Amino acid sequence: MIRLVVANQRGGVAKTTTALVLARIYADQGKRVLLIDTDSQGSIGTVISLKSKYHLSDFLVGHIALEECLVRAHPNIDVLPSNRHTSRAEDLITAQGFREFVFEQMFGPYEHDYDVILVDVAPSITLFQTCAMVYTRRVVIPVAMEILSVQGAMASLESARTLNTMFCNSYHLPVETVGMVPVMVDRRLAMTNIILDTLDQICEKTGVPRLSAIRTDTSVVKANKERQFLADFDPKSKALEDYTVVADEILTVMEQLNGIPQAQCKSA
Ligand SMILES: Nc1ncnc2c1ncn2[C@@H]1O[C@H](COP(=O)(O)OP(=O)(O)OP(=O)(O)O)[C@@H](O)[C@H]1O
Ligand SMILES: [Mg+2]
Repeated sequence: MIRLVVANQRGGVAKTTTALVLARIYADQGKRVLLIDTDSQGSIGTVISLKSKYHLSDFLVGHIALEECLVRAHPNIDVLPSNRHTSRAEDLITAQGFREFVFEQMFGPYEHDYDVILVDVAPSITLFQTCAMVYTRRVVIPVAMEILSVQGAMASLESARTLNTMFCNSYHLPVETVGMVPVMVDRRLAMTNIILDTLDQICEKTGVPRLSAIRTDTSVVKANKERQFLADFDPKSKALEDYTVVADEILTVMEQLNGIPQAQCKSA
């Protein structure tokens, strides 16, 4: 069972792209995927043009059954879409006790229907990012080739570390960062090489794996415009090839992490 949140507190760094492309890669491997959008921008539904009557907020606070809120985006992919009402649901849940465990409580009973649960989050610290990290306990961080993206990645690492400290001490449930993924990589650019070096140093210092890079690829943007999965729009695209490598790396790291005794959990 793979549960993973795609996070970076900087906007526009390919979180949604990463969640969507990984979802499709795992689905094409025959895995049953649940893709949860927690961003009130509702990007997942927009990018692949989903029509939905209900959204995340209807499931979490509106007492609508999960099955009714899901949209089948592909034979192996169910999407729980988000919209602007997600923020209101967050406000309501903020007032509850044990709010960090809401996703665990709400999604836990449906886990047996899926092999992979991926969560896309907003580019800021939100309650639902915390809920997603507590639920999945595994985080992957895409990092675009600019300084603010590195800062956003550090902020996400810090969030994971804070939760890890809280939950590792109290509940023995470590939140682990599966890896940093350099995205929109074009090695002809000087800034790209600077950021890659910086990322390597951060990964070495924190012990977080540095996963393979995803190249800049216009097919990603074009697929978005056409409201298609990248795998349908351009099955031979460079980005899809790179994401396929990263999808395997994530599985390998997850297996290693799952083999680590809980008591030895790291700080990030
Ligand atoms: N490998 C790539 N090559 C070229 N463009 C890319 C690549 N990956 C993502 N993009 C483009 O970058 C833009 C931002 O991507 P995306 O929406 O996935 O970021 P995000 O982190 O989810 O943004 P937000 O924080 O607003 O939710 C999109 O226009 C997307 O098409
Ligand atoms: Mg997004």
